[in-house]
Amino acid sequence: MWTALLAMASCTPCHEAIVRSFERTGMGRSMTAPVAEALPSQAGRHGQQNWAVAWRRDGLEHRVGGETRRMAWAVGSGHEGKSYLWRAGDALFQSPLAWYSKRGSWDLSPGYAAGAEIDFLRPVTADCLFCHAGSSRPVPGSLHRYAAIPQPGIHCERCHGDGAPHAADPKRGNIVNPVRLAPAARDSVCEQCHLSGAARVPLPGKTFADFRPGMVLEEVFSVYLPVTAKAFKVVSHAEQLAESECAKASGTRMWCGSCHDPHGEPAEAESWYRERCQSCHANARPHGERCAECHMPRTAASDGGHTAFTDHRIRKPGPAAVPVAVTGLRAWREPEAQWRARGLGLAYAGAGDLQRAFPLLRETRGDGEAQSALGLVYLRAGRTEEAVAVLEQAVRAEPRHSSRRLNLAAALLAAGRRERAKAEAEQAIALEPLLRDAYVLLAEIEPRRAAYWRARFETELRK
Ligand code: HEC
Ligand code: HEC
Ligand code: HEC
Ligand code: HEC
Ligand code: HEC
Ligand code: HEC
Ligand code: HEC
Repeated sequence: MWTALLAMASCTPCHEAIVRSFERTGMGRSMTAPVAEALPSQAGRHGQQNWAVAWRRDGLEHRVGGETRRMAWAVGSGHEGKSYLWRAGDALFQSPLAWYSKRGSWDLSPGYAAGAEIDFLRPVTADCLFCHAGSSRPVPGSLHRYAAIPQPGIHCERCHGDGAPHAADPKRGNIVNPVRLAPAARDSVCEQCHLSGAARVPLPGKTFADFRPGMVLEEVFSVYLPVTAKAFKVVSHAEQLAESECAKASGTRMWCGSCHDPHGEPAEAESWYRERCQSCHANARPHGERCAECHMPRTAASDGGHTAFTDHRIRKPGPAAVPVAVTGLRAWREPEAQWRARGLGLAYAGAGDLQRAFPLLRETRGDGEAQSALGLVYLRAGRTEEAVAVLEQAVRAEPRHSSRRLNLAAALLAAGRRERAKAEAEQAIALEPLLRDAYVLLAEIEPRRAAYWRARFETELRK
């Protein structure tokens, strides 16, 4: 049922050294088959549940309580750790068990420890594979269905764009070289994946996968960052670097490529980074050799990553910053004027700040995505008829969007219209048979058939 993605142009015949070197980097191994590694088997316990990880002849098995799943992919090179994905039909789910390299052991995936029960049912959405797979093809309108086998490992074309014309007629100038792009487009190549922010909001009708090297991120999506009273709640590398005096004082000259060769990690890190510093600080008074150790110390980032370990704010050594409260969100770079209120509104809605989302979203000449978010704001505020009205518009804008139908079903239920709620939830399932929340809602709509809906989901899962 799954087709392979189109093969990308091969770069090996002419750039073999770069290809071999890149394959050894974390980025080149960002997603792999689990059979390629040799991590130990292990058993553990979480509350009332036993869990286990075991290698079988045909692959890696994760077990929680009575459930056993075979893992399809490991996400993460293992520098810090690895998360695991398993597949049911054309849908992908994340395992609640993950590998932690520094501790050398298996444990619960980030985000699970606090909750009571663990299960295998966390959906793997398109944004995850956008950053970790070479390419993937999400089914439009679905939460976690994929039309093709994701291509593991980030590849050349994610930073260089379509290589086919260049491979057919190899020369300089007919393939993107990030260093020669204008600064915002150059930085966007890395920000695709290294600027997580608090929310990433695609423009109407766009998906992350529409981004191509050479574009500015905001032609496809914008990123919203947390604003704090003092600006140090910055987590991703791009945000931190922008806070540094080096970046601020050197205009647009400084970028990720000032210190990193994306094709390979340096053989001798200390001297490599010192030379990068000295390319700008040649005249600094000599006061130490290991520049990064003092000015870019490694911090104990929270388990599970997605926070820079190496402090990219490049500061004079001093007392560690204390975390402060987030007071709002702002765009990293603003999208075109007509999308500003919509983007910020969706970012606030995504972050759960409905009070700020509401006036912004109401202002927009609603596209389906904005209407869907506005509908949820109405629903939470108990304004159920208004919720139904905008959510109906959102569904009309994209009838094959399973989550929008589910939201509409929830609003209809809140408005006391059970029959229609049931019909919409069933439509959602018809579009996406493993949309678990739809079964949960159906059990709520028909409490006496709750066991039936649970069993239906289990049956779908085993198909
Ligand atoms: C048939 C041989 C061939 C193939 C295949 C090939 N290249 Fe090249 N590439 C070249 C040559 C020749 C140059 C020019 C080198 C020079 O003039 O310095 C080049 C230059 C480049 C440059 C520098 C361009 C610039 O303007 O600065 C990049 C980037 C590049 N290749 C990437 C790729 C990628 C990515 C692939 C695979 C999608 C690829 N190449 C496939 C031969 C090839
Ligand atoms: C398609 C997403 C993507 C893009 C584009 C991307 N990165 Fe990465 N990068 C990652 C991921 C994911 C990791 C973590 C890989 C791992 O260890 O599993 C990573 C890791 C790294 C690392 C740590 C060393 C390593 O190779 O693991 C450096 C340095 C880095 N990236 C620099 C860059 C720079 C510079 C750019 C832009 C020129 C860039 N990246 C573009 C996703 C991306
Ligand atoms: C994470 C982003 C990223 C990925 C992935 C990537 N490159 Fe590059 N590549 C760059 C950047 C940035 C430069 C410019 C480096 C510089 O000159 O400072 C570059 C430059 C090049 C060049 C021209 C300069 C040189 O170093 O010879 C070639 C050729 C090239 N890349 C080929 C490849 C091939 C082949 C792959 C896949 C194995 C690949 N690149 C993967 C970011 C990337
Ligand atoms: C692209 C050029 C560039 C690079 C590369 C660079 N810096 Fe800077 N840095 C600057 C500029 C410009 C300033 C501001 C003027 C100054 O203090 O020299 C600065 C300021 C600083 C400061 C003072 C910060 C403060 O809070 O006042 C420190 C410390 C510093 N850099 C360390 C480093 C270290 C360590 C590296 C390498 C890991 C590095 N820089 C790489 C350009 C750069
Ligand atoms: C001034 C130099 C400098 C610049 C500019 C820089 N880095 Fe780094 N980066 C470092 C150093 C030093 C390390 C630590 C390397 C080590 O431990 O061997 C590092 C480590 C990393 C890592 C590994 C994880 C971690 O936090 O230790 C990633 C990923 C990374 N950088 C991404 C980026 C991205 C993306 C950019 C651009 C937004 C960037 N870096 C710009 C110096 C720099
Ligand atoms: C042992 C720790 C240590 C090492 C190693 C170190 N620095 Fe510093 N650096 C400091 C401290 C502390 C200050 C602040 C001095 C002050 O406030 O007067 C500083 C200040 C600076 C400044 C600000 C301007 C100045 O001269 O006060 C720059 C730029 C800088 N360092 C660059 C570098 C570079 C480049 C390297 C590597 C060649 C390096 N540092 C290695 C501790 C270190
Ligand atoms: C916005 C892009 C982005 C998204 C979305 C994202 N990641 Fe990452 N992830 C990264 C980058 C970049 C790194 C490298 C370290 C860093 O920057 O924190 C990373 C690091 C990791 C690591 C540690 C890898 C290592 O060993 O260094 C794991 C495991 C991981 N991610 C799993 C996931 C999973 C699973 C998802 C989705 C459910 C996900 N990530 C979503 C960009 C992303």
